Amino acid sequence: MTPEQFRDRFPLLKKRVYVNSCSQGALSRDVEEAIRAYLESWHEHGSPWEHWVGEVERLRARFAASIGADTDEIAVMPSASAGINAVASALDFTGPRSQVVVGDFEFPTMAQIWLAQERRGATIRRATPPAAAPDTLPLASYEAAIDERTLIVPATHVCFRNGHRTDIAGLARLAHQRGAYVLLDDYQRTGSGPIDVHALGVDFMVTGCLKYLIAAAGIGFLYVRRDLIERFEPTITGWFGRVNPFAFRIDALDWPAAASRFESGTPPVVNAYAALAALDLLDRVGYEAIGRVVERVGGRFASGAREAGFHVRTPADVNRRGPLVVVQSVDAPALVERLAARGIIASCRGNGLRVAFHAYNTDADADAVLGALKAEAALVEQADVAHRR
Ligand SMILES: Cc1ncc(COP(=O)(O)O)c(C=O)c1O
Repeated sequence: MTPEQFRDRFPLLKKRVYVNSCSQGALSRDVEEAIRAYLESWHEHGSPWEHWVGEVERLRARFAASIGADTDEIAVMPSASAGINAVASALDFTGPRSQVVVGDFEFPTMAQIWLAQERRGATIRRATPPAAAPDTLPLASYEAAIDERTLIVPATHVCFRNGHRTDIAGLARLAHQRGAYVLLDDYQRTGSGPIDVHALGVDFMVTGCLKYLIAAAGIGFLYVRRDLIERFEPTITGWFGRVNPFAFRIDALDWPAAASRFESGTPPVVNAYAALAALDLLDRVGYEAIGRVVERVGGRFASGAREAGFHVRTPADVNRRGPLVVVQSVDAPALVERLAARGIIASCRGNGLRVAFHAYNTDADADAVLGALKAEAALVEQADVAHRR
């Protein structure tokens, strides 16, 4: 399927310029039909749980293949937060390694879950950007923070606030040299290009289906590296974390030799239907092809914004950015509203205007957003102003 055919599957894109996949992916006909198919199966069969659980298993395999993992390295989760909590609950903070190194670019849920572990003995150390480049988080920032007391380094791949992309493979090498685990939060990137989780070398990864995986809320994934799975017994658990949930045992806790041991309750079936359809659609375009469009359109927008003199917070280096480009505004909520009045759906965090690209975006979308920003230039911070600050 070509990117043009892919774009055609999204009715919204005929009416609006949609650059908000960092918040929510657009709704495709395919996902809509899958949700309808779920409802039909419910109407028709009442309680076809065997079939529904089978669909969740199909999703597990489908997602695993999409990130280069094995099926049994994947836990199906109701959210990224649930995945992070399951990992945190499995760790012991009472030994010589009790430190969690949290970078400044983490999504709040990541920081908060580790802060909550302080009551269990964890200590938090921050990895902070260099003063001269506050929108970057180089490996040197982690080098200064990770030591022989570090147990785990949770790290976002792409920052939700400024679009900075961390060198995760480098971070995994560094953390492993110093004996620490790495938990990748790939939510702001999964679906926007190829990923090979084994090659990245991380120990755990969480992501969800809301954004570039173009499905619904209420479903995500946890990847656990095969050789780690049997080392961990999460204390946040439940019947779906068992060898056979339908054994209905209340006298013992058994642990499957698979990442499903990190699951807990009944899986979110309707969301699994949506996610399967979305993964099918993305597969038909192909992640390499998706990545090429995202890189080209995002690059066109970012360099156009720089040429216009705007303060672009996302790094220019293609290896240090993902699908999200952030332009600093003097009043981003007002700018988002002005863009909406021009038929452009974007979002902001603080005064950062977030312009996010997927394979359904085009060069014309990038140019439309640029044109609108030039028309609303009074609301956009200029690079030279930022430089003088
Ligand atoms: C980078 C990142 N991590 C985690 C989350 C939260 O995911 P969930 O609500 O599924 O826990 C988000 C949501 O916006 C995010 O952008």
